[in-house]
This record gives sequence, structure tokens and C-alpha cells, in this order.
Amino acid sequence: MEGFEKALQIRAEQAERIVLSYLPAEEGREKKIYEAMNYSVKGGGKRLRPILMLEAFRLFGGEEEKIHPFMAALEMIHSYSLIHDDLPEMDNDDLRRGRATCHVVFGQAMAVLAGDGLLNLAFETAISAVSGAEPEDMAKAAKAACVLAQKAGCSGMIGGQVADIEAEEKGNIADDGELLFIQEKKTGALLEAALMIGGIMGDADDEQVQRLKRIGRWVGTAFQIRDDILDVTGDEAQLGKPIGSDEKNDKLTYVSLHGLEAAGKRVAQLSGQAERELSLLPGDTTFLKALFSYLIERNK
Ligand code: IPE
Ligand code: IPE
Ligand code: MG
Ligand code: MG
Ligand code: MG
Repeated sequence: MEGFEKALQIRAEQAERIVLSYLPAEEGREKKIYEAMNYSVKGGGKRLRPILMLEAFRLFGGEEEKIHPFMAALEMIHSYSLIHDDLPEMDNDDLRRGRATCHVVFGQAMAVLAGDGLLNLAFETAISAVSGAEPEDMAKAAKAACVLAQKAGCSGMIGGQVADIEAEEKGNIADDGELLFIQEKKTGALLEAALMIGGIMGDADDEQVQRLKRIGRWVGTAFQIRDDILDVTGDEAQLGKPIGSDEKNDKLTYVSLHGLEAAGKRVAQLSGQAERELSLLPGDTTFLKALFSYLIERNK
């Protein structure tokens, strides 16, 4: 295995261990909902968001345990967004992370509730990190929790999902501005949160946090365009989710608006922009740079 891939695997395994340690025990009167929540979080996944958060934190240094609850909270929010995204009233997909989607296994009502459960557990986890912080860390932990709420909320991920659904109805009147809004919000927002929270908890100054936010937005947009490309050219077994979901749903994507070739160029351009800005941050950015390059080429 090449150096970078090995380094990525180590980080993904570490992120996974941390995320899983915050999941509920499947017991008691609420057993069913815990099973549905855990099924979705445990089902593999690249763990990109917690990896990015920890790497951003490492640029500034500090005790890594401080960032663990936020890594778990963000991956819980991401997993909830996927459960709801797959529901019949949204993208209506039956495969996720190589397994049947939550609503296929547990039913639609339970899948809605499992998403709700993960969102609440995410905030319980983040707010516990605030109340349990050392006095000198409390203000930044509160700031991090607030960023998490904003980026997951209606001005962030949810807002992007709303625009994504609305664009299905709009057909060809949708334009580049609308497309950019969808990408930056539905996907960019959680990547912004990952990098910003890493920076905030690592004592980055305001200018550095703003830089991390821009990097997150560009990488997130590139990541979504690559996702849209893979929805056409990908391999279902490797990707672990259905191919052709966007066409089936008349989605507005970079590929539907500009075609595959232009989409590939745009991904490379955005990643290059993110890499250049990254080199203006302190610390060792080697792994993050390699990760951005890898995301352009990824097949899963
Ligand atoms: C899928 O995200 C949804 C998008 C924002 C494109 P990921 O591709 O990070 O999904 P997992 O976590 O690896 O399954
Ligand atoms: C979803 O985008 C982004 C989310 C906020 C969940 P997609 O609908 O393209 O994600 P996939 O392809 O189902 O993973
Ligand atoms: Mg979707
Ligand atoms: Mg989808
Ligand atoms: Mg997709």
C-alpha cells in the first residue's frame, strides 16, 4: 500500500473508533431506535469529516481528546443527513455504504426517527463537551458547538438539501448560481464545519478560521461535483450506493448542467484553489494536501 493510502487508512480507523465510542448501547425500552441509529453510523463510510476535523486541529496542536466529541457529533449529523437523503420522499435510494438503507431495514417511520435521534445525540455529545471543558477551553468549545449548529442547519446543510429538492421541480430554469448554492450548502457546509471546528478547538485565530472555512467550502464543492460524476461513471459495488440516482430524480448537478468533462476540470480547479490556500496555514499540511488530491480521483 502506498504511503498516503496507508496514512489515510490509519486515520479512518482512528476516526471510526472515536465515533463508535460515542454511540448508544442497544438496550432498554428504546432498543429499536438505537439499533437503527447504530446501523447507519456503523455501516462503513470514509469518515472524511472527522478526519478533516482532526487534521485541522493538528495544524495548531493541543490535546487531541478535546476534539473527539466534535468528531463524533459531526459524523452523527452526516449519517443522519444520509438516512433522510435516502428516504422515498427525498432521493428514494435503497443502497448506502454497501448495505440496504435504513428505511429499507427498519421502515420509513423508524428511519425518520433514527435521523432525529442522531441529530439530538450529536448535540448532546457536543454540549457535554462544552459543559465538561476546562474553564480555559469552555468559550471555544461553545463556539465550536455553535458552528456545528449553524452549518448543519437551515443556513447550511438543510438549506442546501431544500434547494436540491426544489431544483428537481425547476428543470431547465435552474442556473449556475442555484447550482453553486446547492453544492456549497448541502455538502460544503459540513466540510466547513469540520475544518473550522478543528481550527477553533486548536486555538486558530479568526483569520485562520475564515481561511479554513473557505478551504472547506471549495473542497466540499469539489467533493460534491466528484460525487455527481461518480453517480454517472461509478461502479455501484465500489461506491456502495446506486448509480444513476441523480438522473432518476432530475437533479440539478454540475454534470447535468455542464457535462462530465467540464465537471472534472472544475473539481481539479477547486481542489487546486483549496491547496493553495492551505499552504498559507501553519503546521504540517502534507497529509491534507495529499487528501485533497486523492478526493479528485476517488472512486468511492
Ligand atoms: C455522501 O458523503 C454524501 C455527499 C455529501 C456526497 P460521503 O461520500 O462522505 O459518504 P460516506 O460517509 O463515505 O458514506
Ligand atoms: C447529499 O447529496 C448530500 C447530503 C446532505 C446528504 P447526494 O444526494 O448526491 O448524496 P448521495 O449521492 O446520496 O450520497
Ligand atoms: Mg440528495
Ligand atoms: Mg442522495
Ligand atoms: Mg450523489
